[in-house]
Amino acid sequence: MSDPIASPIKKECTSAHMVEDHASLPNSVLPPSLETSEAVLLPQEEELGSNWSYVAASPAMRDVRKRVGQVANIDVPVLLLGESGTGKEVIARLIHKLSARSHRTFMKVNCAALPIELLESELFGYEAGAFTGANQSKQGKFEVCHKGTILLDEIAEMPIPPQAKLLHVLQDGEFSRLGSATTSKVDVRVLAATNVDIGQAIESRRFRLDLYYRLNAFTIHLPPLRDRKEDMAILLNYFIKTWADRYARPRAQVSTKMLHACLRHSWPGNVRELENFVKLYLVLGDEEQVLNKLGSSSNAATLQVEEVRVPNPADCHDLKSLVRSLKRGAEKEAIILALKQAKGRRKETAQMLKISLRALHYKILQYGIDYPANHFSSEA
Ligand SMILES: Nc1ncnc2c1ncn2[C@@H]1O[C@H](COP(=O)(O)OP(=O)(O)O)[C@@H](O)[C@H]1O
Ligand SMILES: [Mg+2]
Repeated sequence: MSDPIASPIKKECTSAHMVEDHASLPNSVLPPSLETSEAVLLPQEEELGSNWSYVAASPAMRDVRKRVGQVANIDVPVLLLGESGTGKEVIARLIHKLSARSHRTFMKVNCAALPIELLESELFGYEAGAFTGANQSKQGKFEVCHKGTILLDEIAEMPIPPQAKLLHVLQDGEFSRLGSATTSKVDVRVLAATNVDIGQAIESRRFRLDLYYRLNAFTIHLPPLRDRKEDMAILLNYFIKTWADRYARPRAQVSTKMLHACLRHSWPGNVRELENFVKLYLVLGDEEQVLNKLGSSSNAATLQVEEVRVPNPADCHDLKSLVRSLKRGAEKEAIILALKQAKGRRKETAQMLKISLRALHYKILQYGIDYPANHFSSEA
């Protein structure tokens, strides 16, 4: 059997050629919804520097891209929500690149990775003598990113003390280094990302509601890969091109069989998992072997190719996400109904629903419930 690594894609797979390459995949390997859709005709690839790129073709990601375009040049915080590996950092880098700050520093800080004191000193810096071992003063990431952009990753895991300091920066553009009695001014665009429900952190008082409101000025949801299979072919091509070049391997082919297997897999690790799958393919150099691994890691919730496109219960690919989306819909309905019954009075609404006022505020925001109090009170 021939080694797929030994049969490089004949055509150069540069961004200019992505359309052609993608379109050159036999139609039979694409879900019916993709054969003629605009998504196939308009794949996007944008280089973001430092070996990052944004690649997409699905309608869902086109919406994401549109929202990025709307907000990139407005200096408000953006909250990026989505499962791990869906591309939140990619989108943060895209926002930075499209903003007037693009020639300045972009930095990511993982709020879950460091203990409180280290996170504080990492973000805000310290003066000499601030703590044992602080022999000389050090700039924090906010200072380093002056005029640039900072991505606070896993924001829901940020401990309470730095949350107060972050709020201060967001409100007044001021901070102070650890061990310093004076405040300094700083101008940093803050982007925040999380893959967990901040609502729970707010309810259990692990996250400040006022900080949430600040960060939540503009929200972008990154859909999981299983809900945007139109991106599969272009991402496969992109990762093969990228990693084959970096590993100095020939660019392997994406066979019909492989594309079908990828379309069926549910990718719980999202684009990161797909990228790792491609790396493994290039390293192993054997399609059968890599597809076996994919099969064995695949959970029961695999998709039928035809079921990908429509977000309709009958076509929904797994029961869990169907139930989740129905639950969200029901919860939203219940809140709207209760708000109407309480003539828009939030306290009464919260009592009726037996949730805290804080939780109600959050859910109104989360579901984007258009909440004109007078609208509710004028009805009924
Ligand atoms: N749309 C995309 N185009 C190209 N690469 C992507 C895209 N989305 C994710 N990736 C790649 O997948 C990996 C995970 O993306 P990342 O942005 O770190 O996800 P998250 O922050 O949501 O966990 C990265 O290597 C990234 O380059
Ligand atoms: Mg990330």
